[in-house]
Amino acid sequence: MTASDVLSLALGMPKAELHVHIEGTLEPELAFALARRNGVALPYADEAALKAAYAFDSLQSFLDLYYACADVLRTRDDFRDLMLAYLERAAADGVIHAEIFFDPQTHTARGIPFATVLDGLDDGLAEGARRWGISGRLILCFLRHLSEDECLATLAEAEPYLARIHGFGLDSSERGHPPSQFVRLFARCRELGKPVVAHAGEEGPPEYITEALDLLGARRIDHGVRAVDDPAVLTRLAEEGIPLTVCPLSNTRLCVFKEMREHSLPRLLAAGAKVTLNSDDPAYFGGYLNANIRAVHEAFHFDAATWYRLARNSFEASFASDAEKTAWIARLDTYFAAAR
Ligand code: ADE
Ligand code: ZN
Repeated sequence: MTASDVLSLALGMPKAELHVHIEGTLEPELAFALARRNGVALPYADEAALKAAYAFDSLQSFLDLYYACADVLRTRDDFRDLMLAYLERAAADGVIHAEIFFDPQTHTARGIPFATVLDGLDDGLAEGARRWGISGRLILCFLRHLSEDECLATLAEAEPYLARIHGFGLDSSERGHPPSQFVRLFARCRELGKPVVAHAGEEGPPEYITEALDLLGARRIDHGVRAVDDPAVLTRLAEEGIPLTVCPLSNTRLCVFKEMREHSLPRLLAAGAKVTLNSDDPAYFGGYLNANIRAVHEAFHFDAATWYRLARNSFEASFASDAEKTAWIARLDTYFAAAR
């Protein structure tokens, strides 16, 4: 198989996406359309000026812009349109299942009711399932730059809607906000019977990964790419089969790694970690899942077996039912068998 055959194979694979922030899929064109529709002023003259601001030197420099742009999201239809736009692009990249983060506190803090956000996102999921057959679930993420008490209040607001929330996560500014600050919050999430995940080891140290596992009960680690800085943490992740939702373009755009060739992805795989590939905030970081696959292909030239493993991991690491996972993996196997 030539390198370009392997790339085509990887781009066309059926796969799951487990780490994407719906607010991070807000493309400049939609941001300005919603700004006009809602009479909201964005702090940029036009789409070109906004795109020119996508030059980040850290997670925080990105988050500042990401939260500012989210201000255009006001109505149930805005959230629906945002979700549909993501699902259309994801489906075009071969994504058949997505577990999608949303940050309700970004919206409720601006006076948007929790139900408006959730109803709109669910409208989009239902329409996406009809149009493209894509399966989607929501994971509510708490903002770690806020206090645990504020997050507990958000959880109380979410409780009437638990049937529509598939799991809970932790995101936003990592440095200085360790998982240990959210022990009560995540104990409550687990009591409610939901799986929990946490961003850890993106910019923060490997100890945050250990805290997320031991103190929060995280079932997946979002990013986790800094695990290579502590061999004991990396060995543990591999031995326990804890999935890492790695986002290569995000990590290079936010300067976690200077360039793709320096990314820890090959070291994580070599250590036996259960890695999945994801897009994080694709509107801001240069592309959706297949753009990440292209960038990884160019840097590392993985073989077909590695791409199969990454796609299979994405299904195995999902929070879907065993029956769904078995059906998706059978589809993946059929795809690879036909390509041989
Ligand atoms: N929120 C959106 N994208 C994020 C990221 N990469 N890390 C932490 N919080 C986020
Ligand atoms: Zn993220």
